Amino acid sequence: MQTLDRPVPGAQALADTYNDKVVRQFAAMTVVWGIVGMAVGVFIAAQLSWPALNFDIPWLNYGRLRPLHTNAVIFAFGGSALMATSLHVVQRTCHVRLFSDRLAAFVFWGWQAVIVAAAITLPMGLTQGKEYAELEWPIDILITLVWVAYAVVFFGTIAKRRVRHIYVANWFYGAFIIAVALLHIVNSLAMPVTLGKSYSLYTGAVDAMVQWWYGHNAVGFFLTAGFLGMMYYYVPKQAQRPIYSYRLSIVHFWALIAVYMWAGPHHLHYTALPDWVQSVGMVFSLILLAPSWGGAINGVMTLSGAWHKLRTDPILKFLIVAVSFYMIATFEGPMMSIKTVNSLSHYTDWTVGHVHAGALGWVAMISIGSLYAMLPRLLGQKEMYSTRAIDLHFWIHTIGVVFYIASMWIAGVMQGLMWRATNDDGTLTYTFVEALNATYPYYLGRLAGGVLVVAGMLLMGWNVLRTWQRAPARLSIPVLQPALQPDRAEAAA
Ligand code: HEM
Ligand code: HEM
Repeated sequence: MQTLDRPVPGAQALADTYNDKVVRQFAAMTVVWGIVGMAVGVFIAAQLSWPALNFDIPWLNYGRLRPLHTNAVIFAFGGSALMATSLHVVQRTCHVRLFSDRLAAFVFWGWQAVIVAAAITLPMGLTQGKEYAELEWPIDILITLVWVAYAVVFFGTIAKRRVRHIYVANWFYGAFIIAVALLHIVNSLAMPVTLGKSYSLYTGAVDAMVQWWYGHNAVGFFLTAGFLGMMYYYVPKQAQRPIYSYRLSIVHFWALIAVYMWAGPHHLHYTALPDWVQSVGMVFSLILLAPSWGGAINGVMTLSGAWHKLRTDPILKFLIVAVSFYMIATFEGPMMSIKTVNSLSHYTDWTVGHVHAGALGWVAMISIGSLYAMLPRLLGQKEMYSTRAIDLHFWIHTIGVVFYIASMWIAGVMQGLMWRATNDDGTLTYTFVEALNATYPYYLGRLAGGVLVVAGMLLMGWNVLRTWQRAPARLSIPVLQPALQPDRAEAAA
């Protein structure tokens, strides 16, 4: 099979070339922000074991660094990975250069400006106090401008495509772009008072509901839909096989889009939210298991007939283990949304374990695998500088994630059981501090896992740098004639 970005023998390359500069820039920053964001994660994990690590300096306070970690890993690391891959995939599958080079450059520099602004304001304690939407209103406006430009570049490229068909990966990226725009605007509506302070337009239970409609769909569309776009392009490409079922991918897409929007109330069980709203959230969360697993099976089964490649190709290992973690997180999530289960898991480290099964297992591994698959081609190489380093990275990362989530699962269930244990006379069996003391060993387990993950990221940084150093000074890949490409399984071809 041929790859799309190397000329097919006999194919006529169009005069036009792809805009890979912006893709390379975003790819490089994915690695940089990955290292920074996860290192902050390790630091706050250490603070939970040794609180004195805040050195009594306000901007090193746990409460300020925690949102710095979440923003850095989700929006800087995850966001850069999504922008790099979406702008790569849309050009390759539409057989055209990006809609506008200038706008693409604005998206890159604008997004980096947002990240730097976040890195300054969050440690200063400037926050809207909404989880995953902490940034104050001037930064929110910049995000909106950058996002509109991103949407114009992405959909503009789809509009001028040279093939009739829109490959399914683009559907997922497109949904991610539209949904995030909607979520960001609705949840960030606020009344500014000063440059660094604003008040949400919503109040009370409505505020909570809007926030978790946003929060859950940030998971569904920022941390899931776009990464499924990666799965649908890079898994077939790396396995050199067409996607297992194109029909299933379409069912997967529409089912996921239809169901995700209604599941948010599972974050607000046993609160002032009307009971029926909580139950609706629970039911939709349970239904969500089906499209999530359908899509994941589609990704994994793409390897049918090529399982042996897993033995020798560490990039494929990253991609397939990522999808396996996606299955773990999307099985666990619906279970946790059942009200009686949630009464145990909520407020405990079980939630943090679930989050990182999704974040470190799924989001980080699919991003890392996709970058390893994409970067050599964009740097004029056949493969990364060191395949052994990729394999080592795979093992360090996987062991690190298992350490992290296993520690949090055990800690979480233990906390939940200790908090609810009562004596015969109705008094609590354990004080809160006893439960906290029992948690410390698991915090160290999580810290060890985090250190392994960051070590893997540093190894990736070194490997990317060495590959980059081998790249020719001038790099441009010609856009390929669409007619010479097979129709449906374009990404796999
Ligand atoms: C070395 C890797 C990482 C370490 C050591 C780490 C550590 C942590 C720690 C200590 C917390 C706070 C938990 C608490 O307050 O009890 C946290 C929260 C969080 N992290 Fe990470 N993290 C890592 C990677 C990531 C990545 C890659 C992502 C996303 C792509 C991520 C997303 C989150 C989110 C969403 C939360 C908030 C969870 C919640 O509110 O329940 N983390 N992380
Ligand atoms: C079928 C899919 C999923 C369902 C039904 C689901 C359900 C849930 C539930 C019930 C909670 C706990 C809410 C609470 O007690 O406060 C939760 C928390 C969370 N989940 Fe999932 N989950 C799913 C998939 C995922 C995936 C794939 C990721 C990451 C990529 C993820 C990221 C998160 C985050 C970040 C939180 C913590 C939110 C917070 O409190 O800050 N989830 N999820």
